[in-house]
Amino acid sequence: MEGNHQKELANKCTGCNCPGHIPVDRRGLLKRFVWVLSTPLTALMVWPLIQTIVSTIFRLPKAVYTKVGPVKSFTSGQPGLSNFEFVEDVAYLHSTKLFDAWVIKHSDTKFTVFSPICTHLGCRFDWYPQAKKFICPCHGSVFSIDGKVLGGPAPRPLDTLPWKIENGDLYVKWERFRVGIPSKIRVG
Ligand code: FES
Repeated sequence: MEGNHQKELANKCTGCNCPGHIPVDRRGLLKRFVWVLSTPLTALMVWPLIQTIVSTIFRLPKAVYTKVGPVKSFTSGQPGLSNFEFVEDVAYLHSTKLFDAWVIKHSDTKFTVFSPICTHLGCRFDWYPQAKKFICPCHGSVFSIDGKVLGGPAPRPLDTLPWKIENGDLYVKWERFRVGIPSKIRVG
């Protein structure tokens, strides 16, 4: 009985002098109080940093329109591989890369632009003017001039890229898509 009473006192007392009292460790209490207060504050301060790191790692790079050339310089009805410089901003890194795309001019205001990457497994295909077809050398996928799959293992048509005309120049937005699947999903 006496033992139980002492345990009860030890649990409840906060500073009295009753017999059997075991003083509460005030420093320990203070530490716990500071910990309880500081944990949510620390989390609040660190959360924006975590968000920035995660979004930098997983965010797609922002695609921008890049000048490819004057509208007048493209031959109508004939696919042509055009080079252009793509300015890429990933996190705080600013870099310029060279890319190309298949450009087909229908008129001075209408174009089709294809990514040069085969939708099967990512090889580069070519235009065969005699056959009037795009053919991929890797596994033999064949595409029509409007990008439709005519044969081979390609799971979807050629990937089109966004384009616009500004002050008489053609601009293309460089984007990359996942290969080997029927849906066109942007990955870069
Ligand atoms: S990568 Fe083009 S057909 Fe396989």
